[in-house]
Amino acid sequence: MTPSLLKQAAAAAIATLCTTGAALAAPAWITIGGDAHAVLQKVAPNARTLASTQVAVTVPVQRGGSQLKQASEAVHAVEVDDEMIPTLSLAVHRQLRKCGGFVQHESMAEALATLHRLENPDTTLLLLPSYAIDNPIQVNALLPQLQASNLLSTITDLSAFQNRRYNSTHGVAASDWLRTKWLTLLPSRTQTGSRPRWRLKQITHTWAQKSVEFELIGTGNTGETLVLGAHLDSIAGSNIEARAPGADDDASGVAGMTEIIRVLVANNFQPKRNIRFIAYAAEEVGLLGSAAIATAAASRPDRVVGVMQLDMTAFKGSAQDLWIYTDYTNAAQNQFLANLAAAYLPDLTVAYDACGYGCSDHASWHNRGYVASFPFEAANSSYNFAIHTANDTTATFGNQANHALKFTQLALAWLVELASDSTPAAAAAAAAAVAGAQPAPADRSAAR
Ligand code: BES
Ligand code: ZN
Repeated sequence: MTPSLLKQAAAAAIATLCTTGAALAAPAWITIGGDAHAVLQKVAPNARTLASTQVAVTVPVQRGGSQLKQASEAVHAVEVDDEMIPTLSLAVHRQLRKCGGFVQHESMAEALATLHRLENPDTTLLLLPSYAIDNPIQVNALLPQLQASNLLSTITDLSAFQNRRYNSTHGVAASDWLRTKWLTLLPSRTQTGSRPRWRLKQITHTWAQKSVEFELIGTGNTGETLVLGAHLDSIAGSNIEARAPGADDDASGVAGMTEIIRVLVANNFQPKRNIRFIAYAAEEVGLLGSAAIATAAASRPDRVVGVMQLDMTAFKGSAQDLWIYTDYTNAAQNQFLANLAAAYLPDLTVAYDACGYGCSDHASWHNRGYVASFPFEAANSSYNFAIHTANDTTATFGNQANHALKFTQLALAWLVELASDSTPAAAAAAAAAVAGAQPAPADRSAAR
Protein backbone atom coordinates (compact mmCIF):
# COMPACT_ATOMS: atom_id res chain seq x y z
CA MET A 1 0.00 0.00 0.00
CA THR A 2 1.33 3.48 -0.81
CA PRO A 3 1.62 5.90 2.10
CA SER A 4 -1.28 7.89 0.74
CA LEU A 5 -3.50 4.80 0.49
CA LEU A 6 -2.45 3.82 3.96
CA LYS A 7 -3.42 7.25 5.19
CA GLN A 8 -6.79 6.96 3.50
CA ALA A 9 -7.32 3.54 5.01
CA ALA A 10 -6.47 4.91 8.44
CA ALA A 11 -8.76 7.86 7.87
CA ALA A 12 -11.56 5.58 6.74
CA ALA A 13 -11.11 3.46 9.85
CA ILE A 14 -11.15 6.57 12.01
CA ALA A 15 -14.35 7.62 10.29
CA THR A 16 -16.02 4.77 12.11
CA LEU A 17 -15.22 6.33 15.49
CA CYS A 18 -18.44 7.16 17.28
CA THR A 19 -20.31 5.53 14.43
CA THR A 20 -21.07 2.03 13.36
CA GLY A 21 -19.63 0.54 10.23
CA ALA A 22 -17.64 -2.36 8.86
CA ALA A 23 -13.90 -2.28 9.48
CA LEU A 24 -11.07 -4.43 8.15
CA ALA A 25 -9.24 -6.97 10.28
CA ALA A 26 -5.82 -5.36 10.43
CA PRO A 27 -3.66 -3.77 13.09
CA ALA A 28 -4.54 -0.20 14.01
CA TRP A 29 -2.39 2.14 16.11
CA ILE A 30 -3.92 4.59 18.52
CA THR A 31 -2.87 6.96 21.27
CA ILE A 32 -5.39 6.87 24.07
CA GLY A 33 -5.98 8.62 27.40
CA GLY A 34 -5.80 6.76 30.72
CA ASP A 35 -9.54 6.46 31.35
CA ALA A 36 -10.31 5.26 27.81
CA HIS A 37 -7.34 2.87 28.05
CA ALA A 38 -8.98 1.20 31.05
CA VAL A 39 -12.12 0.73 28.94
CA LEU A 40 -10.01 -0.66 26.08
CA GLN A 41 -8.40 -3.27 28.31
CA LYS A 42 -11.86 -4.59 29.18
CA VAL A 43 -13.33 -4.64 25.67
CA ALA A 44 -10.15 -5.69 23.82
CA PRO A 45 -7.92 -7.70 26.18
CA ASN A 46 -5.69 -8.62 23.23
CA ALA A 47 -4.72 -5.01 22.53
CA ARG A 48 -0.96 -4.50 22.92
CA THR A 49 0.19 -1.41 24.84
CA LEU A 50 3.39 -0.31 23.11
CA ALA A 51 4.41 2.58 25.37
CA SER A 52 2.94 4.80 28.07
CA THR A 53 3.69 8.24 29.42
CA GLN A 54 2.38 10.92 31.75
CA VAL A 55 1.55 14.28 30.19
CA ALA A 56 1.33 17.50 32.25
CA VAL A 57 -2.05 19.20 31.86
CA THR A 58 -3.74 22.22 33.41
CA VAL A 59 -7.29 21.50 34.52
CA PRO A 60 -9.93 23.40 36.49
CA VAL A 61 -10.10 22.39 40.16
CA GLN A 62 -13.86 22.30 39.72
CA ARG A 63 -15.73 22.18 36.42
CA GLY A 64 -16.58 25.75 35.49
CA GLY A 65 -14.48 27.25 38.26
CA SER A 66 -11.67 29.63 37.47
CA GLN A 67 -9.15 28.05 39.81
CA LEU A 68 -6.76 25.90 37.82
CA LYS A 69 -4.33 23.22 38.91
CA GLN A 70 -1.52 21.23 37.38
CA ALA A 71 -2.27 17.57 36.90
CA SER A 72 -0.91 14.73 34.86
CA GLU A 73 -2.76 12.50 32.46
CA ALA A 74 -1.66 9.08 31.29
CA VAL A 75 -1.41 8.56 27.54
CA HIS A 76 -0.72 5.18 25.94
CA ALA A 77 0.25 4.09 22.43
CA VAL A 78 -1.59 0.87 21.63
CA GLU A 79 -1.79 -1.62 18.78
CA VAL A 80 -5.31 -2.95 18.45
CA ASP A 81 -7.19 -5.01 15.88
CA ASP A 82 -9.00 -2.41 13.84
CA GLU A 83 -12.21 -4.45 14.01
CA MET A 84 -12.27 -3.45 17.68
CA ILE A 85 -12.28 0.31 16.95
CA PRO A 86 -16.09 0.71 16.65
CA THR A 87 -16.56 -1.41 19.80
CA LEU A 88 -14.03 0.70 21.66
CA SER A 89 -15.62 3.89 20.44
CA LEU A 90 -19.06 2.75 21.59
CA ALA A 91 -17.74 1.57 24.97
CA VAL A 92 -15.93 4.89 25.57
CA HIS A 93 -19.10 6.71 24.60
CA ARG A 94 -21.27 4.66 26.96
CA GLN A 95 -18.93 4.31 29.92
CA LEU A 96 -17.17 7.67 29.89
CA ARG A 97 -19.95 9.65 28.24
CA LYS A 98 -17.58 11.18 25.74
CA CYS A 99 -16.87 10.87 22.07
CA GLY A 100 -13.39 9.92 20.93
CA GLY A 101 -10.89 9.65 23.76
CA PHE A 102 -8.34 8.27 21.35
CA VAL A 103 -6.71 9.21 18.08
CA GLN A 104 -5.77 6.77 15.33
CA HIS A 105 -2.42 6.97 13.54
CA GLU A 106 -1.34 5.71 10.16
CA SER A 107 1.54 3.62 11.48
CA MET A 108 3.06 2.31 14.69
CA ALA A 109 5.93 4.75 14.21
CA GLU A 110 3.54 7.70 13.98
CA ALA A 111 1.70 6.62 17.17
CA LEU A 112 5.01 6.33 19.04
CA ALA A 113 6.24 9.64 17.63
CA THR A 114 3.06 11.34 18.88
CA LEU A 115 3.66 9.93 22.35
CA HIS A 116 7.28 11.10 22.20
CA ARG A 117 6.20 14.63 21.19
CA LEU A 118 3.78 14.76 24.14
CA GLU A 119 6.59 13.66 26.45
CA ASN A 120 9.12 16.11 25.06
CA PRO A 121 7.28 19.16 23.74
CA ASP A 122 9.35 21.07 21.18
CA THR A 123 9.80 24.31 23.11
CA THR A 124 12.05 25.81 20.42
CA LEU A 125 8.81 26.78 18.67
CA LEU A 126 7.35 28.36 21.80
CA LEU A 127 7.72 32.05 21.03
CA LEU A 128 5.39 33.82 23.41
CA PRO A 129 4.40 37.26 22.13
CA SER A 130 3.65 40.17 24.44
CA TYR A 131 0.18 39.81 25.94
CA ALA A 132 -0.22 43.52 26.74
CA ILE A 133 -3.70 44.87 25.95
CA ASP A 134 -2.85 48.11 24.20
CA ASN A 135 -5.05 48.59 21.14
CA PRO A 136 -8.41 49.62 22.62
CA ILE A 137 -9.15 52.24 19.97
CA GLN A 138 -8.85 49.80 17.10
CA VAL A 139 -10.53 46.88 18.86
CA ASN A 140 -13.45 48.98 20.12
CA ALA A 141 -13.98 50.42 16.64
CA LEU A 142 -14.10 47.00 14.99
CA LEU A 143 -16.06 44.93 17.55
CA PRO A 144 -19.49 46.53 16.96
CA GLN A 145 -19.19 45.87 13.24
CA LEU A 146 -19.38 42.07 13.73
CA GLN A 147 -22.97 41.04 12.99
CA ALA A 148 -24.78 37.96 14.31
CA SER A 149 -27.01 38.06 11.21
CA ASN A 150 -23.98 37.51 8.95
CA LEU A 151 -22.84 34.60 11.12
CA LEU A 152 -26.27 33.01 10.85
CA SER A 153 -26.35 33.47 7.11
CA THR A 154 -22.97 31.75 6.59
CA ILE A 155 -23.98 28.93 8.97
CA THR A 156 -27.21 28.50 7.00
CA ASP A 157 -25.34 28.37 3.68
CA LEU A 158 -22.81 25.83 4.93
CA SER A 159 -25.53 23.67 6.52
CA ALA A 160 -27.34 23.50 3.18
CA PHE A 161 -24.72 21.11 1.79
CA GLN A 162 -25.91 17.51 2.19
CA ASN A 163 -22.79 17.08 4.30
CA ARG A 164 -19.21 18.40 4.27
CA ARG A 165 -17.46 15.04 4.63
CA TYR A 166 -13.75 14.96 3.93
CA ASN A 167 -14.19 12.27 1.27
CA SER A 168 -17.51 13.22 -0.36
CA THR A 169 -18.34 15.33 -3.41
CA HIS A 170 -20.34 17.54 -1.03
CA GLY A 171 -17.29 18.13 1.12
CA VAL A 172 -15.32 19.10 -1.98
CA ALA A 173 -18.08 21.49 -3.11
CA ALA A 174 -18.21 23.11 0.34
CA SER A 175 -14.48 23.86 0.14
CA ASP A 176 -14.90 25.49 -3.29
CA TRP A 177 -17.90 27.44 -2.00
CA LEU A 178 -15.93 28.80 0.94
CA ARG A 179 -13.05 29.88 -1.28
CA THR A 180 -15.50 31.83 -3.46
CA LYS A 181 -17.24 33.29 -0.41
CA TRP A 182 -13.96 34.61 0.97
CA LEU A 183 -12.97 35.92 -2.45
CA THR A 184 -16.14 38.03 -2.64
CA LEU A 185 -15.14 39.76 0.63
CA LEU A 186 -11.81 40.92 -0.77
CA PRO A 187 -11.09 44.17 -2.54
CA SER A 188 -10.34 43.95 -6.23
CA ARG A 189 -6.78 44.33 -7.46
CA THR A 190 -7.49 47.84 -8.72
CA GLN A 191 -8.41 48.93 -5.19
CA THR A 192 -5.24 47.51 -3.66
CA GLY A 193 -2.80 48.56 -6.38
CA SER A 194 -0.47 46.01 -7.94
CA ARG A 195 0.62 44.34 -4.71
CA PRO A 196 -2.32 42.77 -2.88
CA ARG A 197 -1.58 42.33 0.79
CA TRP A 198 -3.40 39.02 1.01
CA ARG A 199 -3.29 35.47 -0.32
CA LEU A 200 -6.14 33.01 -0.75
CA LYS A 201 -5.57 29.36 -1.52
CA GLN A 202 -6.91 25.86 -1.18
CA ILE A 203 -4.63 23.22 0.27
CA THR A 204 -4.66 19.83 -1.40
CA HIS A 205 -4.44 16.74 0.79
CA THR A 206 -4.31 12.98 0.24
CA TRP A 207 -8.15 12.89 0.49
CA ALA A 208 -10.63 14.78 -1.68
CA GLN A 209 -11.61 17.79 0.44
CA LYS A 210 -9.23 20.75 0.41
CA SER A 211 -8.54 23.05 3.33
CA VAL A 212 -9.02 26.77 2.62
CA GLU A 213 -6.47 29.34 3.77
CA PHE A 214 -6.70 33.14 3.65
CA GLU A 215 -3.78 35.23 4.79
CA LEU A 216 -3.54 38.94 5.50
CA ILE A 217 0.13 39.65 5.00
CA GLY A 218 1.75 41.65 7.79
CA THR A 219 3.22 45.04 7.14
CA GLY A 220 5.89 45.06 9.81
CA ASN A 221 6.55 41.70 11.34
CA THR A 222 6.04 39.23 8.53
CA GLY A 223 8.23 36.61 10.16
CA GLU A 224 5.45 35.99 12.69
CA THR A 225 1.99 34.63 12.09
CA LEU A 226 -1.28 34.21 13.98
CA VAL A 227 -3.56 31.34 13.01
CA LEU A 228 -7.32 31.46 13.52
CA GLY A 229 -8.88 28.13 12.57
CA ALA A 230 -12.13 26.19 12.39
CA HIS A 231 -12.99 22.95 10.65
CA LEU A 232 -14.81 22.85 7.37
CA ASP A 233 -15.88 19.21 7.41
CA SER A 234 -18.92 17.65 9.04
CA ILE A 235 -19.87 14.05 9.70
CA ALA A 236 -22.80 11.87 10.77
CA GLY A 237 -22.00 8.18 10.82
CA SER A 238 -19.98 6.35 8.21
CA ASN A 239 -22.31 6.79 5.23
CA ILE A 240 -20.73 9.10 2.70
CA GLU A 241 -24.15 10.43 1.63
CA ALA A 242 -25.61 10.84 5.13
CA ARG A 243 -27.12 14.22 5.93
CA ALA A 244 -24.67 16.10 8.21
CA PRO A 245 -25.52 19.80 8.35
CA GLY A 246 -22.85 20.46 11.00
CA ALA A 247 -24.36 23.86 11.81
CA ASP A 248 -22.75 24.10 15.25
CA ASP A 249 -19.97 21.60 14.47
CA ASP A 250 -18.42 23.52 12.86
CA ALA A 251 -20.16 25.91 10.47
CA SER A 252 -20.31 28.23 13.51
CA GLY A 253 -16.52 28.48 13.64
CA VAL A 254 -16.13 28.92 9.88
CA ALA A 255 -18.79 31.64 9.96
CA GLY A 256 -16.82 33.41 12.72
CA MET A 257 -13.67 33.47 10.58
CA THR A 258 -15.69 34.69 7.59
CA GLU A 259 -17.21 37.57 9.53
CA ILE A 260 -13.83 38.63 10.93
CA ILE A 261 -12.33 38.60 7.42
CA ARG A 262 -15.22 40.78 6.22
CA VAL A 263 -14.73 43.35 8.97
CA LEU A 264 -10.92 43.47 8.81
CA VAL A 265 -10.89 43.82 5.02
CA ALA A 266 -13.72 46.40 4.95
CA ASN A 267 -11.73 48.53 7.39
CA ASN A 268 -8.49 48.04 5.46
CA PHE A 269 -6.93 46.66 8.64
CA GLN A 270 -3.19 46.32 8.16
CA PRO A 271 -1.69 43.89 10.65
CA LYS A 272 1.99 43.95 11.51
CA ARG A 273 2.09 40.17 11.98
CA ASN A 274 0.57 37.91 9.31
CA ILE A 275 -2.94 36.68 10.07
CA ARG A 276 -3.83 33.28 8.64
CA PHE A 277 -7.42 32.03 8.61
CA ILE A 278 -7.66 28.29 8.03
CA ALA A 279 -10.78 26.20 7.38
CA TYR A 280 -9.38 22.72 7.99
CA ALA A 281 -10.50 19.71 5.99
CA ALA A 282 -10.96 16.30 7.64
CA GLU A 283 -11.05 17.24 11.33
CA GLU A 284 -13.83 14.78 12.12
CA VAL A 285 -11.78 11.78 11.00
CA GLY A 286 -8.82 12.38 13.29
CA LEU A 287 -7.69 16.04 12.92
CA LEU A 288 -6.09 15.09 9.59
CA GLY A 289 -6.14 18.48 7.84
CA SER A 290 -4.74 20.42 10.79
CA ALA A 291 -2.13 17.72 11.45
CA ALA A 292 -0.85 18.08 7.87
CA ILE A 293 -0.90 21.88 8.05
CA ALA A 294 0.74 22.13 11.48
CA THR A 295 3.45 19.70 10.36
CA ALA A 296 4.09 21.72 7.19
CA ALA A 297 4.26 24.99 9.18
CA ALA A 298 7.64 23.98 10.60
CA SER A 299 9.24 24.25 7.16
CA ARG A 300 7.70 27.62 6.26
CA PRO A 301 9.92 30.67 6.82
CA ASP A 302 7.62 32.37 9.35
CA ARG A 303 6.93 31.36 12.98
CA VAL A 304 3.40 30.72 14.16
CA VAL A 305 3.21 32.62 17.48
CA GLY A 306 -0.40 31.92 18.39
CA VAL A 307 -3.25 29.64 17.35
CA MET A 308 -6.95 29.81 18.18
CA GLN A 309 -9.55 27.21 17.28
CA LEU A 310 -13.25 28.00 16.96
CA ASP A 311 -15.15 24.71 17.00
CA MET A 312 -18.78 24.82 18.24
CA THR A 313 -19.70 28.32 19.33
CA ALA A 314 -23.44 28.59 18.64
CA PHE A 315 -25.18 26.50 21.32
CA LYS A 316 -25.42 28.06 24.76
CA GLY A 317 -25.47 24.93 26.91
CA SER A 318 -24.24 26.47 30.18
CA ALA A 319 -24.93 29.55 32.26
CA GLN A 320 -21.46 31.01 31.62
CA ASP A 321 -20.58 32.40 28.20
CA LEU A 322 -16.99 31.70 27.20
CA TRP A 323 -15.57 28.29 28.17
CA ILE A 324 -11.82 28.18 27.91
CA TYR A 325 -10.66 24.57 27.56
CA THR A 326 -7.42 24.05 29.41
CA ASP A 327 -6.04 20.81 28.00
CA TYR A 328 -3.95 20.66 24.81
CA THR A 329 -3.72 24.44 25.07
CA ASN A 330 -1.30 27.07 26.40
CA ALA A 331 -1.96 28.47 29.89
CA ALA A 332 -0.40 31.90 29.21
CA GLN A 333 -2.45 32.50 26.07
CA ASN A 334 -5.58 31.21 27.84
CA GLN A 335 -5.01 33.80 30.57
CA PHE A 336 -4.65 36.43 27.84
CA LEU A 337 -8.07 35.40 26.46
CA ALA A 338 -9.65 35.82 29.90
CA ASN A 339 -7.98 39.25 30.18
CA LEU A 340 -9.24 40.23 26.71
CA ALA A 341 -12.77 39.19 27.67
CA ALA A 342 -12.57 41.26 30.88
CA ALA A 343 -11.28 44.29 28.96
CA TYR A 344 -13.46 44.21 25.85
CA LEU A 345 -16.46 41.99 26.65
CA PRO A 346 -17.08 42.82 30.33
CA ASP A 347 -20.67 41.57 30.26
CA LEU A 348 -19.56 38.04 29.43
CA THR A 349 -18.65 35.40 31.98
CA VAL A 350 -15.65 33.11 31.55
CA ALA A 351 -15.36 29.53 32.80
CA TYR A 352 -12.95 26.63 32.36
CA ASP A 353 -13.25 22.99 31.44
CA ALA A 354 -11.34 20.33 29.51
CA CYS A 355 -12.09 17.74 26.79
CA GLY A 356 -9.85 15.09 28.29
CA TYR A 357 -8.29 14.32 24.90
CA GLY A 358 -7.21 16.18 21.76
CA CYS A 359 -10.76 16.91 20.67
CA SER A 360 -10.22 19.49 17.91
CA ASP A 361 -7.60 21.07 15.65
CA HIS A 362 -5.91 23.10 18.41
CA ALA A 363 -4.46 19.76 19.57
CA SER A 364 -2.66 19.29 16.23
CA TRP A 365 -0.81 22.55 16.87
CA HIS A 366 -0.30 21.99 20.60
CA ASN A 367 1.15 18.53 19.97
CA ARG A 368 3.75 20.09 17.69
CA GLY A 369 4.84 22.71 20.22
CA TYR A 370 2.72 25.72 19.23
CA VAL A 371 0.78 28.06 21.52
CA ALA A 372 -2.90 27.16 21.06
CA SER A 373 -6.25 27.99 22.69
CA PHE A 374 -9.76 26.60 22.39
CA PRO A 375 -12.65 28.79 23.63
CA PHE A 376 -15.78 26.63 23.54
CA GLU A 377 -19.57 27.03 23.76
CA ALA A 378 -20.30 25.21 27.03
CA ALA A 379 -19.13 22.92 29.80
CA ASN A 380 -18.09 19.49 28.61
CA SER A 381 -21.20 18.03 30.23
CA SER A 382 -23.66 20.29 28.45
CA TYR A 383 -22.55 20.98 24.89
CA ASN A 384 -24.81 20.53 21.87
CA PHE A 385 -25.60 16.81 21.80
CA ALA A 386 -27.05 17.01 18.29
CA ILE A 387 -23.54 17.15 16.78
CA HIS A 388 -22.61 14.36 14.36
CA THR A 389 -26.29 13.83 13.52
CA ALA A 390 -28.77 15.17 10.94
CA ASN A 391 -30.13 17.37 13.75
CA ASP A 392 -27.09 19.63 14.03
CA THR A 393 -29.05 22.45 12.39
CA THR A 394 -29.56 26.14 13.17
CA ALA A 395 -32.91 25.18 14.73
CA THR A 396 -31.05 23.40 17.56
CA PHE A 397 -29.71 26.78 18.69
CA GLY A 398 -32.85 28.79 18.03
CA ASN A 399 -32.01 30.09 14.52
CA GLN A 400 -29.82 32.84 15.91
CA ALA A 401 -26.10 33.39 16.32
CA ASN A 402 -25.89 35.55 19.42
CA HIS A 403 -23.74 33.03 21.30
CA ALA A 404 -21.47 32.52 18.26
CA LEU A 405 -21.04 36.30 18.06
CA LYS A 406 -19.32 36.34 21.49
CA PHE A 407 -16.59 33.97 20.29
CA THR A 408 -16.20 35.93 17.07
CA GLN A 409 -15.71 39.07 19.15
CA LEU A 410 -13.14 37.36 21.37
CA ALA A 411 -11.25 36.06 18.33
CA LEU A 412 -11.22 39.49 16.69
CA ALA A 413 -9.89 41.13 19.87
CA TRP A 414 -7.21 38.42 20.11
CA LEU A 415 -6.18 38.89 16.49
CA VAL A 416 -6.11 42.69 16.50
CA GLU A 417 -4.22 42.90 19.81
CA LEU A 418 -1.55 40.40 18.75
CA ALA A 419 -1.36 41.37 15.08
CA SER A 420 -0.74 45.02 15.91
CA ASP A 421 2.50 44.25 17.72
CA SER A 422 5.99 44.38 16.50
CA THR A 423 8.16 42.24 18.74
CA PRO A 424 11.17 43.91 20.35
CA ALA A 425 13.41 41.77 18.13
CA ALA A 426 11.63 42.85 14.96
CA ALA A 427 11.59 46.49 16.06
CA ALA A 428 15.32 46.36 16.79
CA ALA A 429 16.05 44.79 13.41
CA ALA A 430 13.94 47.46 11.66
CA ALA A 431 15.70 50.26 13.54
CA ALA A 432 19.10 48.81 12.68
CA ALA A 433 18.12 48.53 9.01
CA VAL A 434 17.02 52.18 8.96
CA ALA A 435 20.34 53.19 10.52
CA GLY A 436 22.08 51.40 7.67
CA ALA A 437 23.60 48.85 10.00
CA GLN A 438 23.36 45.08 9.64
CA PRO A 439 20.16 43.89 11.32
CA ALA A 440 20.89 42.19 14.61
CA PRO A 441 20.36 38.43 14.55
CA ALA A 442 16.81 37.63 15.62
CA ASP A 443 16.82 37.42 19.39
CA ARG A 444 14.27 34.80 20.35
CA SER A 445 14.42 35.54 24.03
CA ALA A 446 13.56 39.19 23.40
CA ALA A 447 10.33 38.10 21.75
CA ARG A 448 9.07 36.30 24.81
N1 BES B 1 -16.35 19.60 17.75
C1 BES B 1 -15.90 18.30 18.13
C2 BES B 1 -15.13 18.28 19.44
C3 BES B 1 -15.92 18.47 20.69
C4 BES B 1 -17.11 17.80 20.89
C5 BES B 1 -15.40 19.25 21.70
C6 BES B 1 -17.79 17.97 22.08
C7 BES B 1 -16.07 19.40 22.90
C8 BES B 1 -17.27 18.75 23.09
C9 BES B 1 -14.99 17.74 17.04
O1 BES B 1 -15.40 18.08 15.75
C10 BES B 1 -14.96 16.22 17.15
O2 BES B 1 -15.95 15.58 16.98
N2 BES B 1 -13.78 15.67 17.47
C11 BES B 1 -13.60 14.26 17.61
C12 BES B 1 -12.15 13.93 17.87
C13 BES B 1 -11.30 13.74 16.66
C14 BES B 1 -9.90 13.32 17.08
C15 BES B 1 -11.88 12.78 15.65
C16 BES B 1 -14.34 13.73 18.84
O3 BES B 1 -14.47 14.45 19.81
O4 BES B 1 -14.72 12.55 18.80
ZN1 ZN C 1 -16.04 19.94 15.54
